Amino acid sequence: MAILISPSVLNADLTHLAEEVGRIDAADYVHLDVMDNHFVPNLTFGLPVVSQLIASTDIPADVHLMISDPDTWAPKFAAAGAASVTFHAEASAAPVRLARELRDAGSRAAIALRPATPVEPYLDLLSEFDMVLVMTVEPGFGGQSFLDGTLAKIRRTRDAITAAGLDVWVQVDGGVSRSTIERAAGAGANMFVAGSAVYNAEDPNAQIGVLRELATGAYQA
Ligand code: DX5
Ligand code: ZN
Repeated sequence: MAILISPSVLNADLTHLAEEVGRIDAADYVHLDVMDNHFVPNLTFGLPVVSQLIASTDIPADVHLMISDPDTWAPKFAAAGAASVTFHAEASAAPVRLARELRDAGSRAAIALRPATPVEPYLDLLSEFDMVLVMTVEPGFGGQSFLDGTLAKIRRTRDAITAAGLDVWVQVDGGVSRSTIERAAGAGANMFVAGSAVYNAEDPNAQIGVLRELATGAYQA
């Protein structure tokens, strides 16, 4: 399973977004947090900004939609060229239909679970998704502490994927740093979002390298 690092620009300098993305060329993806002030109590950027950013970089976009109406909006991000579009299970009216629309539009389709949302209702439907995002903080803000209480869910998700013989990625997002990434990788996560850990580092690319190395060493299928 590929180990992938997807830095979040949430804690970067949002007035110089393209330049900030230019500082992470060692990244596998760039994680873009879209928030609508309804699903989460914070507001970032939307489709016009994401579309322009996608056009301005070669790094594939990993769009994380923290919005109330993903059934309407998510396909538009796929059509704009996002390599991966993640919507929240708690917000989607028809997750399977939406995932199929995303794949039809040429994007990877991913479903996100808040810390208190169980993965069990989705285990029989894993083949419909390319990735499961297990949130390791309550979504909405960068710089929060990693919730160890999510590790068992990461492990159950990875085990179900393995048992079904599927190639589904498990992403973690929130509080991922040098001191937590090995626990997440050991529980079966293979794609790691890191916001403050990367952008607060003096050398973001070196930090990405360290995170990738730690995760590679600790990953347990
Ligand atoms: C939080 C966002 C995250 C956030 C992570 O709701 O989904 O992507 O940027 O930031 P850190 O890595 O600082 O916890
Ligand atoms: Zn995110």
